[in-house]
Amino acid sequence: MCGIVGYIGKKNAVPLLIEGLKALEYRGYDSSGISVIDKKIETIKASGKIVNLIDKLFKRPINGNIGIGHTRWATHGEPNEINAHPHQSREVAIVHNGIIENAKEIEAFLAKNGYKRKSQTDSELIAHLINYFYNGNLLNACLKAVHMLNGSFAVGVICRREKKLIGIKYKSPLIVGIGNGENFIASDVAPLLPYTNRFLFLEDGEIAEIDEDNIRIFDFRGSEVKKDISTVDWTKEQAEKGGYKHFMLKEIAEEGDAVRNTLLGRIDDNISLEEELKWNGKFINNINKVVLVACGTSYYAALVGRYILQNVAHIPATAEVASEFRYENILLDRNTLFIVISQSGETADTLESMSYAKSQNIPTLSIVNVQGSSIARMSDYVLYTHAGPEISVASTKAFVSQLAILYLFTLFLSRTKRTLNNQQLKDYTEELLKIPDKINETFEINLQKVQNIAPYYSQFKNYLYLGRGILYPIALEGALKLKEISYLHAEGYAAGEMKHGPIALIDKTTPSVFLIPPSPLLLNKTLSNIKEVSSRKGEIIAVATDKYEKIEDAGLVLTTPSTDLIFSPFLYIVPLQLFAYSIANYLGYDVDHPRNLAKSVTVE
Ligand code: F6R
Repeated sequence: MCGIVGYIGKKNAVPLLIEGLKALEYRGYDSSGISVIDKKIETIKASGKIVNLIDKLFKRPINGNIGIGHTRWATHGEPNEINAHPHQSREVAIVHNGIIENAKEIEAFLAKNGYKRKSQTDSELIAHLINYFYNGNLLNACLKAVHMLNGSFAVGVICRREKKLIGIKYKSPLIVGIGNGENFIASDVAPLLPYTNRFLFLEDGEIAEIDEDNIRIFDFRGSEVKKDISTVDWTKEQAEKGGYKHFMLKEIAEEGDAVRNTLLGRIDDNISLEEELKWNGKFINNINKVVLVACGTSYYAALVGRYILQNVAHIPATAEVASEFRYENILLDRNTLFIVISQSGETADTLESMSYAKSQNIPTLSIVNVQGSSIARMSDYVLYTHAGPEISVASTKAFVSQLAILYLFTLFLSRTKRTLNNQQLKDYTEELLKIPDKINETFEINLQKVQNIAPYYSQFKNYLYLGRGILYPIALEGALKLKEISYLHAEGYAAGEMKHGPIALIDKTTPSVFLIPPSPLLLNKTLSNIKEVSSRKGEIIAVATDKYEKIEDAGLVLTTPSTDLIFSPFLYIVPLQLFAYSIANYLGYDVDHPRNLAKSVTVE
């Protein structure tokens, strides 16, 4: 939530900050603003999306070689211009991502010292606090201020009297980009890819003091910390729209490649995760339970993971929503493997859940897309998905890449634990390798079709998504996609549970999207559910492999190439993502920036 970017160098910071904010807009788009140092600190802010800020900059251009920018997802205070960042206190301006939990206390302290806040934000207090402590050395003022702050804060700071940019990290993400005669800070690597692929990943409790040629990192006690430079293999082209109308459509189109890249180098004759995980046979054989924890779309990937770990590797597994898990104090025994899944690697509840698992001395593995993110760094082991930057707020290619890792990992455990024989392993691996092409084919088959039917299906206000077994999480994910980008109410349900309540909703105004399992046993049960809906005049949309494309009573059938039931999640999600996309696009919504949402949920 909230995106931060900062620049120090010889160029005019303004275009860089604006481009950076555009790349960070997925983190929040309630308001935005920039400050640069000219003779004094110049600030321009606007409520709403970054285009509004750009409009204002046209009318009143500003310049400077040092600057900070912010795009906001509102927590404290309405999303208006006064509450927009940067916040300034005399010589100091700051941008902040996070929440200050002891804001009242700090406000009282500052009030006694003559400071009054103008906005309703907790963030403004940070500016006043740093200004209060400022005595000719910005780093020292920041070091004093951080000791008074509770909560989470990634902060960018500039001061009119110093040619410095300061970055502070505590429980919210912040990275430093290393340039040539210029340096940067940002919430993540995406906005900096046009300028560098060399980064310093700050840990919690660290402050970076940056000028155009030097970067020094200190801990909150003021001791200098030496850090290794990390390079990231993403390119700037990956973070651009490449001719697509929306990032979401581009990212769905990239799903085949995202899965292929995630599998690449991890399957030779067999599944080979040994290199990355460095686990020995004893460690693996001791794992007798897997607990998967995540939020949102990543949680639905975890549900698929739970299913395959149990049904393919025969390892007991549970999947938990991170925001619930972390307050349940679930007892974890020593032979449990704790897996967290996160595209951003920054989701606060997921991070805290992992921190709980670590406090119980349980081995932790993370499945993460953003390299060098907090979750990746905190976990004992990490398996990166190689989906590339995912910019659209609604997650698509990250989801199928998470599935790819979960399948690889399940086959890896099955091989070591010998829960599958060689032939079974070979068959599963061969099918997994065919998935990228089949995803591409699914995209091609359905793109035009969903665009044609969007005007008709956008008239309905309520949808039910129904799936069984391994397709139940896909029903949940399909419904989530529809509601988050097209604002139509959609509920995902286990098809067998329909009779226990949701069937009451069925009439001609509520279509049901049935995921038809490519398995004779489950197929018949699902066909009976379809009859129950159609006899109550409910419209039917079916998703099925081409083998089962004739579904009686279905007004629309979205098809995929044939695959085994166990691999069907990879393919069935594609038409559901396209269906949601086409409806949202037809209704004229800002698909990549759905209202009230932010891509990276770094507050609890
Ligand atoms: C939905 C979506 C969210 C995220 C969730 C977790 O399209 O993107 O539900 O999946 O906020 O985010 P990560 O995976 O970054 O932890």
